[in-house]
Amino acid sequence: MNNAIAGFSKLSKEEKINWIAKEYFSNPKEAIAIIKQYWNSNEKLQLLHDEFIENTITNFYLPMGIAPNFLINGKYITVPMVIEESSVVAAASKSAKFWSTRGGFKTNVLNTEKIGQVHFIYKGDFKKLEQFFIDKKNKFFSATESMTKNMQKRGGGVLDIELRNKTSELENYYQLHATFETKDSMGANFINSCLEQFAKTLKEEAICYDTFSQEESNIEVVMSILSNFVPNCIVRAEVSCKVEDLAEKNIENPLAFAEKFVRAVRIAEIEPFRAVTHNKGIMNGVDAVVLATGNDFRAVEAGVHAYASKNGKYSSLSHAKIENGVFTFWMEIPLALGTVGGLTSLHPMVKLALEILEKPSAQELMQIVAVTGLAQNFAALRSLTTTGIQEGHMKMHINNILNQFVANEEERKVIAKHFEINSITHSAVVDFIENLRK
Ligand code: MEV
Repeated sequence: MNNAIAGFSKLSKEEKINWIAKEYFSNPKEAIAIIKQYWNSNEKLQLLHDEFIENTITNFYLPMGIAPNFLINGKYITVPMVIEESSVVAAASKSAKFWSTRGGFKTNVLNTEKIGQVHFIYKGDFKKLEQFFIDKKNKFFSATESMTKNMQKRGGGVLDIELRNKTSELENYYQLHATFETKDSMGANFINSCLEQFAKTLKEEAICYDTFSQEESNIEVVMSILSNFVPNCIVRAEVSCKVEDLAEKNIENPLAFAEKFVRAVRIAEIEPFRAVTHNKGIMNGVDAVVLATGNDFRAVEAGVHAYASKNGKYSSLSHAKIENGVFTFWMEIPLALGTVGGLTSLHPMVKLALEILEKPSAQELMQIVAVTGLAQNFAALRSLTTTGIQEGHMKMHINNILNQFVANEEERKVIAKHFEINSITHSAVVDFIENLRK
């Protein structure tokens, strides 16, 4: 089958759908009906979504759930989460409730610096390049004044620009390494615009710099782009309580629980195979709020995992200790988030999510997101070190299996009763339904 097509983007939405349906489905009519079933009946709203990306044919639903009872620095927050994994919202809510009666979450933003770089090739004397940079540094700021004016009014802008010599790693390779404060916006567009102007200024100023030779004056800009590694845009989230206060239904011996919990975190600190899964659990919470608030989850994921390997080995993002009878569990993660700009003012569900969060600043959102990640990590470790993860997972997943089998009300009742006392596995549920229907 040759499915190559020229000029696909020029086709109308209807033509695109017809082409897909004809090329890939034995029953094109049915495929078209499914695609259209997910269109919004409000045409204006549908058009808004269509125009977020290219070649849109329909919408792809993910559920938005609510995790209430997050006590953060003494204030209750209700957290909207967008995620497909069945147990995540329940786990977040359970953790939130657990910690709300044990002092809640304590958070603070340590710093908010973003980074961008102009990567360039300079063939010549480094001393001369250094002097050129000292002489021309102000030009980089003045040339971007029109772009930074508004950001400066909001307390942000370009913080600094450094010249970095990377020639020990790649021949003739240098950088303009710039730092930015972007306040409530994530700042990607602002940073990239500034960087592209820095690159232009760099080339223009080099061409007419007296002491450069012909070759030296001919700087080659390879690229100008922000970095999603933001090790100086860090938020800290923490919970702590007396060890004996950890006691609960499944935590009969709180000291044994706390010690096992700390050991589980320690394993994730030293063992990368475990650390990746441990951090994935944190990202279950982080991504769900990042998505709900219209932020760039790929940027967050890339930055967080780079941070997890900042010491040369991939490790746990969270840490735990018992000191003087007090259990403390905390993490510091980089989060470059925005609550203005981008999708935040465009996507109606994002606006709604931000409203549920009481219109947070970017710094407040960093704290909420970090807390949700820590709560998720607590819930996962708590299950793993006590009942095992499958009990909770399968309880939530059973519904998906029942939906897959289009179980009716009567069947659901019988199945629920049976699995109250029998252990839930995918195959046990499937076998039970099949037997029931024989
Ligand atoms: C599943 O989505 C996340 C966990 O695997 C996290 C963990 O193992 O810590 C349960």
